Amino acid sequence: MVTLEQVFTHPITQKYLKRSGVAHAIAVAEYAYIFAKRFDVNPDLATKAALLHDVGHYTWYSDGEWDYDLYRENDIHAIKGASRAHKLLIRIGEDRHAAKEIAIAILLHTDSYLPKGELELNPLQRVVAMADEADEENGGNHHYKKIDETTALERIRALDMLVAKEVNEKSK
Ligand SMILES: [Fe+2]
Ligand SMILES: [Fe+2]
Repeated sequence: MVTLEQVFTHPITQKYLKRSGVAHAIAVAEYAYIFAKRFDVNPDLATKAALLHDVGHYTWYSDGEWDYDLYRENDIHAIKGASRAHKLLIRIGEDRHAAKEIAIAILLHTDSYLPKGELELNPLQRVVAMADEADEENGGNHHYKKIDETTALERIRALDMLVAKEVNEKSK
């Protein structure tokens, strides 16, 4: 099984998570684990999708500040992220079916770029969207939270162990 640590430490993940916030990505992965258990969703898929959900972010800066209007008008980070995450997962040996499920959950984690109307999310997609919302702060502040590298890796490893335990129990 491809681990969260493998996903997290990959240079592509590191590059793009530095844009959108490592601390946010990890917190969302942790929430996704909790919600996955609550709603009987595969925690392996949920935590990977959550960890990678914002890898599609572009930096919408003007004068050194995040420009929310520019972002709202032009952003397609969920589309970019879905595709980026899929490419990365396949490259590190993720199962094709899992990679597709994860990519679609990333594609649908926000509806801010979609035409108005209710989307019917499946349980995995709902868990990832809820986890993202759970870590949201006003003014997009969740993207700027700081975390040191050691703590980040420790939390990823702890999550890997929880997921592995859960997946093993399910397959008994
Ligand atoms: Fe997002
Ligand atoms: Fe997010």
